[in-house]
Amino acid sequence: MDFPLPLSKGPWLAGFAVFFLLGLALFGRDPSPNPSSQPIRYNHAVHIASGMTCTDCHSGARDAVRATLPGLDTCLMCHQEPVTESAEEEKIRAFAAAGEEIPWHQVTHVPRHVYFSHRRHVALGGLECAECHGPMETRTEPPRRPFRTLDMDACLNCHEQRKVDNDCNRCHR
Ligand code: HEC
Ligand code: HEC
Ligand code: HEC
Ligand code: HEC
Ligand code: HEC
Repeated sequence: MDFPLPLSKGPWLAGFAVFFLLGLALFGRDPSPNPSSQPIRYNHAVHIASGMTCTDCHSGARDAVRATLPGLDTCLMCHQEPVTESAEEEKIRAFAAAGEEIPWHQVTHVPRHVYFSHRRHVALGGLECAECHGPMETRTEPPRRPFRTLDMDACLNCHEQRKVDNDCNRCHR
């Protein structure tokens, strides 16, 4: 059955729909830190070339749930004194002088209601970082967006291929 809308309600409904969609677009998502830039233009390539490994800075990436981003102390181990003439490097000491941490943004993230463990995937699953994050050792600038979209479909697809249990409550606890 099909009742035509009374003319007078049409505009109201249309107006409501517009505000509803706008609201959804602005507030309906998880807070998504998708910054245009990081506080320091950090260069993965030069540090990996100098012999550092991923877990020197992302201490939890093998053995913990969170990989973690490095604190100022880690940078100061080598940058207490200048090792280059880079203005970006100078910012490290400016944060130290101000007594502030470097406010890195996390770019890749899952919503709070999802459980994701690095240890499970790296130490137990034997996956390379690059599988999910791409070739970070070649990056000369911070990534502006995640290397790949790790939404529910992406999780489920890889699990299916590798015969990992896809019970809802494995990821939604
Ligand atoms: C000397 C410290 C250092 C080392 C070594 C290092 N990283 Fe990082 N990493 C950082 C910093 C600082 C950031 C944040 C700024 C940026 O994105 O460049 C970061 C960001 C990242 C991110 C982005 C996280 C996100 O929110 O999406 C990934 C992924 C990452 N690193 C992976 C790696 C991998 C893989 C290696 C080893 C090949 C590695 N890192 C080695 C310091 C380091
Ligand atoms: C183990 C020592 C070590 C640690 C720890 C380290 N660096 Fe460096 N960093 C270096 C060396 C060596 C260079 C010079 C690389 C070159 O020019 O060949 C460098 C260069 C830099 C430069 C300038 C060069 C460029 O291309 O941008 C920046 C900026 C920098 N590092 C930021 C950081 C930050 C931020 C951290 C902490 C997350 C950090 N570094 C941790 C050793 C280190
Ligand atoms: C199976 C995919 C996968 C693999 C493999 C993986 N990561 Fe991640 N990584 C993620 C996801 C998903 C997030 C977001 C997690 C969150 O929001 O809690 C993330 C977040 C990060 C972050 C942001 C900070 C944090 O504490 O979460 C860094 C840094 C990082 N990963 C580094 C690494 C490194 C280094 C390796 C290899 C040793 C690695 N990752 C392997 C999927 C992966
Ligand atoms: C590239 C492949 C890949 C991707 C992408 C991936 N996983 Fe996994 N995941 C695995 C593998 C392999 C295992 C099994 C590890 C082991 O051997 O214990 C696993 C195991 C798990 C487990 C433990 C399952 C259990 O039986 O308890 C959880 C939870 C999990 N993953 C969550 C996630 C979430 C959440 C995402 C998406 C954000 C994700 N995974 C993306 C490959 C992947
Ligand atoms: C391997 C991990 C994994 C499994 C298994 C899984 N989910 Fe999810 N789920 C995710 C991730 C990651 C997200 C957040 C990203 C997204 O919305 O795609 C999510 C989001 C959701 C959302 C919110 C969607 C939204 O728009 O915010 C619902 C509802 C949901 N899952 C239901 C389920 C149900 C029901 C099952 C079982 C049939 C299930 N999930 C199994 C990883 C998983």
